[in-house]
Amino acid sequence: MASQLPSNILIFGATGNIGKYITGAIISAEPNVGRHVSIFTSPATASSPDKQAILSSWKSRGLSVITGDLSNADDIRNAYNGIDTVISCLGRNALASQIELLKLAEESGVQWFFPSEYGTDIEYDASSKDEKPHQNKLRVREYIRENLKKVKCTYVVTGPYIDMYLTLAPVAKEAGGYDVKSKKAVVIGSGDDRVGFTTMPDVGKLVVAALRHPEVSIDKALKVQSFVTTPNDIVAEFEKQTGSKWTVEHTPIQKLREIENEKWNANDPIATLYTLKRIWAEGGTLYDKTDNEILGLRPEDMEPLSAAVERAIGGKGY
Ligand SMILES: NC(=O)c1ccc[n+]([C@@H]2O[C@H](COP(=O)([O-])OP(=O)(O)OC[C@H]3O[C@@H](n4cnc5c(N)ncnc54)[C@H](OP(=O)(O)O)[C@@H]3O)[C@@H](O)[C@H]2O)c1
Repeated sequence: MASQLPSNILIFGATGNIGKYITGAIISAEPNVGRHVSIFTSPATASSPDKQAILSSWKSRGLSVITGDLSNADDIRNAYNGIDTVISCLGRNALASQIELLKLAEESGVQWFFPSEYGTDIEYDASSKDEKPHQNKLRVREYIRENLKKVKCTYVVTGPYIDMYLTLAPVAKEAGGYDVKSKKAVVIGSGDDRVGFTTMPDVGKLVVAALRHPEVSIDKALKVQSFVTTPNDIVAEFEKQTGSKWTVEHTPIQKLREIENEKWNANDPIATLYTLKRIWAEGGTLYDKTDNEILGLRPEDMEPLSAAVERAIGGKGY
């Protein structure tokens, strides 16, 4: 497989937040990546009124929809029939189920598997192994290292999605963000610390690039991103594009840590967001060199900050 391009691709979590972009990029890629693309989804999603437009548009372009239960081994074995490449875009709550999916992949004809990552580098430095949000992804990597002989894996590590970063969650204002309506930003610390971001459309582009380059992608955690910027430079871009001054509040990093601990102690799922924001603010997305270039992607191939800010202002962001 290492030198062979994907042929029959199966995607899990295709209609999710990032799955939509990854699936869209795969089926729109020119020249084609793979001969055929299928998605595996739950009957609830396949019949959901909210998902009909996207599913119909994909089906009209040749994509097949397989419905089944993610936890039913026979459903997965049937879905794997004839598949050589699997892309998992499963959400955080379904990450652990990938261990069974990988085990069944090893017993089938699947040769290449992309576990659901598309985010923070879970093996960035010595402290990464203790971060609570990383535990399920770390377990998946450990299972792969210790058990898989035949199936090869690729992790696409993108850092935070700028499109989501540009929002301000009302339930987690101190975690930082941007509110276009009130022209208000909340930044962590001074706001001058650099963060590496990927736009959601670029995540799709990067996965397609990885699929086109098995020779550099297989057995690798690819560190990729669209651009590096600072929270204050993002404010400046919003001010430029809206033609008005924004209000900026600061959350000191110590305060962020305190809220993070409170949220974990209270078993509040929002704790994950606080931890990730801290990791990003503390430099956990920065590299001397990314893997963009080995995938054939130049800086001008990636979306700039201005494009994401424009989408956010136009209400077309995340
Ligand atoms: N870098 C970032 O800023 C960032 C932000 C968000 C997410 N991520 C990462 O991106 C990956 C995908 O996350 P996402 O937010 O796109 O996922 P999501 O939209 O929450 O879920 C994707 C799909 O996973 C399946 N799924 C979710 N929960 C499930 C459950 N409990 N049981 C069975 N299936 C379930 C569903 O598939 P069906 O509907 O087809 O059944 C769902 O559509 C994750 O690894 C996440 O950590 C990164």
